[in-house]
Amino acid sequence: MNILLTGGAGFIGSHLVRRLLTRSEHQVVNLDALRYSGNLTNLESVQQHPRYRFVQGDICDQPLVESLFQAHRIDGVINCAAETHVDRSILDPGSFARTDVVGTGVLLEAARQAGVRRFLQVSTDEVYGSVETGTSSETDRLAPRSPYSASKAGGELLALSYWTTYKFPVVVTRGSNTYGSHQYPEKFIPLFVTNAIDGQLLPLYGDGRQCRDWLAVEDHCAGIEHAFLHGEPGTAYNIGGGNERENLTVAEVILDSLGQPKSLLRYVSDRPGHDRRYAVDCSRLRELGWKPAVAFADGLRETVRWYQEHESWWRPIKSGEFKRYYEEQYRRRLEEGTACGS
Ligand code: TYD
Repeated sequence: MNILLTGGAGFIGSHLVRRLLTRSEHQVVNLDALRYSGNLTNLESVQQHPRYRFVQGDICDQPLVESLFQAHRIDGVINCAAETHVDRSILDPGSFARTDVVGTGVLLEAARQAGVRRFLQVSTDEVYGSVETGTSSETDRLAPRSPYSASKAGGELLALSYWTTYKFPVVVTRGSNTYGSHQYPEKFIPLFVTNAIDGQLLPLYGDGRQCRDWLAVEDHCAGIEHAFLHGEPGTAYNIGGGNERENLTVAEVILDSLGQPKSLLRYVSDRPGHDRRYAVDCSRLRELGWKPAVAFADGLRETVRWYQEHESWWRPIKSGEFKRYYEEQYRRRLEEGTACGS
């Protein structure tokens, strides 16, 4: 297929670009706006690949998006382009509605007009909202609680409506918290790993007992590809790692693996509307033939090692735009935070 993959310079997108080029015969056109978290160094290993093209641009740019479908005879779309960080959605909700809802709408309509055969919308398990007990299955009610998850819910509902209304073959994936190499260090694991490498404080929100189901990025990409190729149109598939952990536990493992003391932990004021727990039932995608392969202990160890060995990747990021964001997000919180055990 000729696949238009959006957001391919980001964390999950760049893993997916590399996967599709090395493990399949598809042509890949990567459309990425290269905003703060998009990074072409993620794709250095494939930039000369004969089946790969990069286009810098925004999924909201309708004329550009339409022209790509014609120019590259696109017949499949994987939409990874998104604003994804909950804390930033609290600071700037408008940009989330724009990219995650409006941008998805532009892409869907251009794809439908072009007669695309397959459209995969990458969504998130956060659309289910906070799940105190049990697991979410795909038919559960969506109950997003942050501007981020509400925008993602908007985008995927729009996508699913294209099946109902036009029989346009859309599939949605709802992945759980993803970790691995090349993840922008605003997210929990890469932030804590890189702070710990530098002996800086680790800001744990609230009581640190929130639960996330950690999914290795390789397993997430395998799930996306599987759902793209084999998923039932007009439906959603959960993708989870089956590794439910409390944040405090993950933070302690990171500190241990870097030989750093627990005294670096700081309990700081909680994220507003912080979802306590996410957990998904992945049996639907498993029945289709996918299963996760990476054990969390191994994946986390590899991830820590990657950040140790790739300071040239993350140091420039942490000294740029990120510094201003970090200051706004954490300085006061850390000043007022409390140490572990105090
Ligand atoms: P995050 O990586 O932002 O993913 P999400 O909020 O989408 O699940 O955060 C994962 C968990 O870690 C979440 O419960 C919030 C928590 N967290 C902290 O305690 N401190 C931090 O500095 C960050 C970024 C997250």
